[in-house]
Amino acid sequence: MTGLVKKLRERINGFALSSIAGINNAFVQPKSKEKWEPSGFAELDEITARSLVGTDISDHLIVIFVESIALQPKLIVELGVRGGESTFVFERTARLCGSNLVSVDISDCHGASHLETWHFVRKDDVLFASEFAEWCQTKRTNFPIDVLFIDTSHLFEHTLKEFESWFPFLSANAKVILHDTNMNVLYRRRNGTMGVAWNNDRGVIRALEVFLDRKFDETTDFIDYHKGWLIKHYHHSLGLTVLQRFELPEKKNHQNPSGFSNSVSTMSIVDGGVNQH
Ligand SMILES: C[S@@+](CC[C@H](N)C(=O)[O-])C[C@H]1O[C@@H](n2cnc3c(N)ncnc32)[C@H](O)[C@@H]1O
Repeated sequence: MTGLVKKLRERINGFALSSIAGINNAFVQPKSKEKWEPSGFAELDEITARSLVGTDISDHLIVIFVESIALQPKLIVELGVRGGESTFVFERTARLCGSNLVSVDISDCHGASHLETWHFVRKDDVLFASEFAEWCQTKRTNFPIDVLFIDTSHLFEHTLKEFESWFPFLSANAKVILHDTNMNVLYRRRNGTMGVAWNNDRGVIRALEVFLDRKFDETTDFIDYHKGWLIKHYHHSLGLTVLQRFELPEKKNHQNPSGFSNSVSTMSIVDGGVNQH
């Protein structure tokens, strides 16, 4: 009985939230027909065109692209593929920069890209991290990771495990891009339209707070620097946070910039063997 009541309550809540978003969008959308002039930069234009269709990540696609290409990454790892919105962006980054792109999801997303240097791995991402060094050897894929994108369960414990298991593979100036750092049952896009999500109890941003031992107000944009990381936060929609490793000049000789004791931040594969510098 309690289970039935709970389900009914969830249905009513879901219906109420969809109605709020629907009514809002009926009024907002006609006012927000965005005008857009192509730039001539083909990949940027494709991503901009895609971002005009409102999804839970559409507001952040251009930022993800610009932040990624700026690094000229050799290796991009994307955790969480689903329908391939972020994959669309990383596919273009990888094509432009000649990067390897490794995408991981527990569901089958093998059709998300046709890029030659794309590798799809269907597996729990934390489990795959434990096999990653070996996997890179068998695929003869270079690492460390230059861009790590995390968009999976959005749960606190799991996100912390993702940090612990993937950060040791990051390069010295890597970027980590976290989606859903300002998650709630309803979210508002930059153009005023709304979407329905769920309350993850601040799972992703709380994991970042624990990792960096610092409090954040994710409901507003901010730029911060802490423990060797530049932190840029975009609050709108479901939130996007970009972390970049950045050692202040006088601290450049830090032994362990990842924050984890088993850091292999300058690991590389040489002649089939793993070298740690
Ligand atoms: C929000 S969706 C990703 C959206 C995608 N980044 C995009 O832009 O379209 C989350 C995805 O993470 C996957 N996922 C959830 N938990 C996972 C886990 N432990 N390991 C790997 N993938 C996971 C789900 O299957 C789902 O496809």
